[in-house]
Amino acid sequence: MARPAIVLIGFMGAGKTTGGRMFASALRCRMSDTDKRLQRRVGMSIPEYFAKHGEAAFREIEEEVAGELLERADGGVISLGGGTLQSERVRRALERHTVVLLHVGRATAWKRAKRSDRPLARDRAGFDRLYAERQAVYEQVADVILPEVDRQLLKPAVAVIAEAHRAKGAQLLWAHTDSGGYPVWLRPGLLRELPPWPLPESSRRFAITDETVAEHHAGRIPELSGMIEIPPGEAHKTLETCERTWGSLVEQGVTRADHVVAIGGGVVGDLAGFVAATFQRGIPVVQVPTTLVAQVDSAYGGKTGVDLPAAKNYVGAYHQPAAVMVDPDVLSTLPPEELAAGYAEVVKTALISGGALWEQVASGAPVDPLTVMRCARTKLQVVADDERDGGRRQVLNLGHTVGHAIETVTDYRRYRHGEAVGLGLLAALRLSGRDDLRAQVAELLAGVGLPTTMDAAIDVDEVHAATARDKKRLGSAPVPFVTVREPGDVRYGQQVGDRDVRAAIAELAPVA
Ligand SMILES: NC(=O)c1ccc[n+]([C@@H]2O[C@H](COP(=O)([O-])OP(=O)(O)OC[C@H]3O[C@@H](n4cnc5c(N)ncnc54)[C@H](O)[C@@H]3O)[C@@H](O)[C@H]2O)c1
Repeated sequence: MARPAIVLIGFMGAGKTTGGRMFASALRCRMSDTDKRLQRRVGMSIPEYFAKHGEAAFREIEEEVAGELLERADGGVISLGGGTLQSERVRRALERHTVVLLHVGRATAWKRAKRSDRPLARDRAGFDRLYAERQAVYEQVADVILPEVDRQLLKPAVAVIAEAHRAKGAQLLWAHTDSGGYPVWLRPGLLRELPPWPLPESSRRFAITDETVAEHHAGRIPELSGMIEIPPGEAHKTLETCERTWGSLVEQGVTRADHVVAIGGGVVGDLAGFVAATFQRGIPVVQVPTTLVAQVDSAYGGKTGVDLPAAKNYVGAYHQPAAVMVDPDVLSTLPPEELAAGYAEVVKTALISGGALWEQVASGAPVDPLTVMRCARTKLQVVADDERDGGRRQVLNLGHTVGHAIETVTDYRRYRHGEAVGLGLLAALRLSGRDDLRAQVAELLAGVGLPTTMDAAIDVDEVHAATARDKKRLGSAPVPFVTVREPGDVRYGQQVGDRDVRAAIAELAPVA
């Protein structure tokens, strides 16, 4: 039987030829390019053929060339022309191959394409429309999604992709950060059939989980050498719990050659990640997120830590995971209130990303594995651009300044993190001067049962004072806010008047 090929897809200017060469040289195999084959077959350049025969004739011959190549391929690397996925024949032929999407942002794609003689890159509006249309198809067929970073930085991804190529099945999003890359595996049912484990067999696996997750899912990670259970809930995301966990690792004889598997929601992920970051100055951690909050947000990006009574996430470290294993099926045991809390992070991420994710969320569509994947991609791209919160990563804090303040003044017990973030989003949209978006988001949050006003007992001034202790504040300057101009156009580091902040919080109090 013919072996599957690695097929590179992506929009104009994604760098499929360069990417293809990189894969071919790493895998020591041949690379074929559908555009080049087509030009050879018709004996002229694509722009010439387009001008002479029109787009319909071009698509016909493009389908034929790509279809034949994919159907006959026996291993190797194939770079696929940007528009071929419109063809049903091509999409069918792709099924047996490993499809790698080289993501390119719209702005970069336009910058590159307008310098070329590409027939579909002549006017910006048409180009943008085409870009939006194609993204959805790319996401659907891709087994692997690589972020927009210098292609040379993706070399570590190649070995992992080669492995995935053999164990075809799960979708792989490659996470790039300045301190290294790691695979994010995603598939409903992933925990029933795990992808290649990111660490050698000689490294023993020690799970850290909470008591509730232990009951439902922790047993599904095979070959555990030990398991540590912490009590569930934000109130236990403390240094005291860390100390007990470090103690258990010592008792179980864990060494620097071993690693931690964090199985649980954001509390477990943050705490276990921090324990791993600090135990014997750092051992690897594999994140297995089991809540919606964790699957759409907290499991990626390497921020780990715990709360202090004075403020949230005040002690922590950056510690990127060795891999993230995402199985949306585990959400089936999650109580509805926890799913709802995760929805607030989905709305936040959709406001940041704009585009297809925002459209999906704004339409009120239920959260599905595609939503999880799109949220993960959004977060991974932000972190790829800025791992350590020096700039762009701060957009992820949208809704969190007021959200964290509400959590702090209620001793981390009254609201779930996501519930507080939902309230914080409403305050941030007020500060953005976007009444219409605020109303739309309030409706989305209320639709899943999330609060849109605070408890009457919560003191507005106390929340206001707590915002000043937010970690994003530097020196004596006022705390900066993240504001939204449009979905997809989110600004960080915005100075807003103190009176406006208080008013945005006061607006969250229920009408007497
Ligand atoms: N590190 C980051 O970048 C980042 C980003 C966002 C949020 N966070 C942090 O995440 C935390 C919130 O995470 P969370 O909302 O996942 O809370 P959580 O971890 O407390 O989980 C919520 C509850 O769901 C239970 N649970 C988890 N998985 C389950 C499952 N599959 N079935 C049944 N029950 C299950 C847990 O036992 C817990 O009681 C906050 O501390 C927040 O600061 C961190």
